[in-house]
Amino acid sequence: MFDFTGKVVLITGAAQGFGRVCAVAFAQRGARLALCDINDTGGAQTLAMVEAAGAKGLYRHADVSDESAVEGFVAATVEQFGRLDVAVNNAAKERPGPTLDLPSAAFDELIDTNLRGVYFCMKHEVAQMRKNGGGAIVNQASVTSSMTGSRVMVSGESAGASGGDRGGRALPRVGRGAFRRRRGAGRRWRFHSALSRRRTAGYSSPPIVPNSTGP
Ligand SMILES: NC(=O)c1ccc[n+]([C@@H]2O[C@H](COP(=O)([O-])OP(=O)(O)OC[C@H]3O[C@@H](n4cnc5c(N)ncnc54)[C@H](O)[C@@H]3O)[C@@H](O)[C@H]2O)c1
Repeated sequence: MFDFTGKVVLITGAAQGFGRVCAVAFAQRGARLALCDINDTGGAQTLAMVEAAGAKGLYRHADVSDESAVEGFVAATVEQFGRLDVAVNNAAKERPGPTLDLPSAAFDELIDTNLRGVYFCMKHEVAQMRKNGGGAIVNQASVTSSMTGSRVMVSGESAGASGGDRGGRALPRVGRGAFRRRRGAGRRWRFHSALSRRRTAGYSSPPIVPNSTGP
């Protein structure tokens, strides 16, 4: 189940954090890695870690909010490895703080990366996976997409809109949460945590399209 020998795995936002951890974990399980980020120093470090784990890899500078960059990254992956089996759309930006205190430009920045970026990635990944005969895509998101509160930020909501359990209903919650005070926050947190656990209970084994065989 955890053997990815011969599989080609693409990870966005691989320069640090979850993206880096996923890259090394896939490398240790036999995958070949295609990594991108806008932080080239961190990206090069992750590539070195992947290669130290005995895997083949490539790193490209690609901003996921730029469709042509995403298209080029997927093309470079296929040029080097011949196929694409798994994609982890993990790149994300975060701007912590009360929603109404953020500069409005931050909203565009977060939506461009956390929502439009995931769309661009899926569009070009799926096109390639169809040629392979199958594949699997993981869109990384955040449980904050299912929470409201005066300090819940746009970043969690936008991450949720791209892949979280609230789907397209996430954005109206920014407005409602922004005006709430902290009273009852603990109760809401417990409620939403329980709700998230229930909603994600069946997500531990994401379906993998059959015929996603090796290279
Ligand atoms: N850290 C947590 O506690 C946590 C919890 C739940 C979900 N998540 C989700 O996991 C994902 C990654 O989180 P993380 O904590 O590893 O974040 P992080 O900030 O450590 O890493 C994100 C990476 O994405 C890159 N990135 C940002 N904008 C980009 C762009 N436009 N194009 C390409 N790369 C870009 C950054 O340079 C960085 O390397 C996010 O989707 C986040 O919502 C994180």
